[in-house]
Amino acid sequence: MFDRQKINQTRKDFPMLNDREIYFDNAATTFKPHVVIDAVLEYYNNYSYNVGRGDYLKAYSVEQKVEEVRSLIADFINADKNEVIFTSGATESLNTIAFSYGLQYLKAGDVILTSLAEHASNILPWFKVAELVGASIEYVELDQYGDLSLENFKAAMHDKVKVVSLAAMTNVLGNVLPIKEIAKVTHDYGAIIVCDGAQSVAHNLVDVKDLDVDFLAFSGHKMLAPTGVGVIYAKYSILDKLQPFFQGGGSNSRYTQDGSLSYKKPPYKFENGTPPIEAILGFGAAIKYLNEQDFAKLIAYEQDLVNYFIEEMSKLDNVEIYNPNSTSGIVAFNIKGIFSQDVSTYLDTQGIQVRSGHHCSKLLNNVIKANDTVRASVYFYNTFEEVDRFVEVVSQTTLEKTINIFV
Ligand code: ALA
Repeated sequence: MFDRQKINQTRKDFPMLNDREIYFDNAATTFKPHVVIDAVLEYYNNYSYNVGRGDYLKAYSVEQKVEEVRSLIADFINADKNEVIFTSGATESLNTIAFSYGLQYLKAGDVILTSLAEHASNILPWFKVAELVGASIEYVELDQYGDLSLENFKAAMHDKVKVVSLAAMTNVLGNVLPIKEIAKVTHDYGAIIVCDGAQSVAHNLVDVKDLDVDFLAFSGHKMLAPTGVGVIYAKYSILDKLQPFFQGGGSNSRYTQDGSLSYKKPPYKFENGTPPIEAILGFGAAIKYLNEQDFAKLIAYEQDLVNYFIEEMSKLDNVEIYNPNSTSGIVAFNIKGIFSQDVSTYLDTQGIQVRSGHHCSKLLNNVIKANDTVRASVYFYNTFEEVDRFVEVVSQTTLEKTINIFV
C-alpha cells in the first residue's frame, strides 16, 4: 500500500505540485511528471522527424518509438497492439466511432441507448448520426444520484437497440457503471457497446477483454500524458470490417483517379495525417511511470483518499453532496445558497483549484435537481492534508465571503 510518506516523495516528480496550492481539478486534466515533460522535450531537441513517411533511419527510429507506445497502451488495457488507434483525445475518438460505425451500420428505426449522465462528447455525435440515418436516442433511467443500475439498464434494452454508448465512469458525479455486465446484456441483444473511458482508464485497472466492450475511447492528458493524444480501442474483428470516416494520407495503400481506394490494415486505416508525435511519446512515458509506480497501488491509495474526502465533506452542514456513494476520484457538491462558480472563484482565492458549472454534461440537471455543481477531483498525488485543508476552507465559506471577492 502507498503510505503518506511515499506520496510526498512521489509529489516531487511533478513540477506543478507545491505546498501553496491545492489542485483538485484532475478530472479535467492531470499534471505531468518530469519524465513525461522530458520525453516531449527530447523529441523536439533531438529527433523531431515525422513518422510513416521518411526513408531515413532517424525517422524510422521515431516510428519505432511510436509503435512501442502503441504496445505499451495495448498492454495497459489488455488489448492487442493492432486494436489501438491514436486520436487527438476522447472527443475525437467518440466522434470517429459514432460516425464510422453509425453511418455504416445504423438505419432508420434503430435505437442508440445512452444516459443523461453522459458528457456532451458521448451524446452529441450520436444526435448527429441519429439525424443522418433516421435512428433515435433513448436514455436509461438513472437514480437520484445520477447512477445507472444494471436493473435499469436491462429494463431499457430491447431489440431495436443497436448501439449502447455509456461512460464507465461519469465525469460529473464519478459514478462507476457495471460495464462488464452491461456489455453482456448488450451482446445478448446483438448490439454493440461503446465505452467512454475518459475518466475510467485514468482511475481504474481496465481490461478490455474481460469487460468485452466493442469500443473504448480515452485521452492521455487525464492520466499524466500531454494533451492532444487519445485512443480508440476496438475489437479487431470490428475494425477489419469498418470503413474509416476520415480520409487522407496514411490510411490508404493505394487509390486511383476513378475513385477506387484500398485501405491499410487496422489500426493504420484509421490514422491520417501527422500524428501528435511528441504527445504520443509523452503518453508512453506516462504509462511507463504508472507501471513503475504500480498503478494498482496508486488507485488503492486514491480510493482511501476519496473515502476520507466524502466522509469529511458529509460532516459539513453547509454542503450538499450529490455523489455520497462515490467510489471515484470525484466529489460533486454545492455550498447551500451559493452559486457554484462563485464558490470555485472563492476557493481560488484560497489557493484551491476546482471546476464548477455543468462540466460539459447538460442533461443531468433534472436528474440530480441541481443546475450546476462544484467538482473537486483528486488523483493519486493528492494528500490527506490537502483534503483537510479543503474541508476547512469549504466549511468556512459563506455568502458574505464569496460576495466580498466581487466587490
Ligand atoms: N471532460 C473534462 C471534464 O470533465 C474536461 O472536466
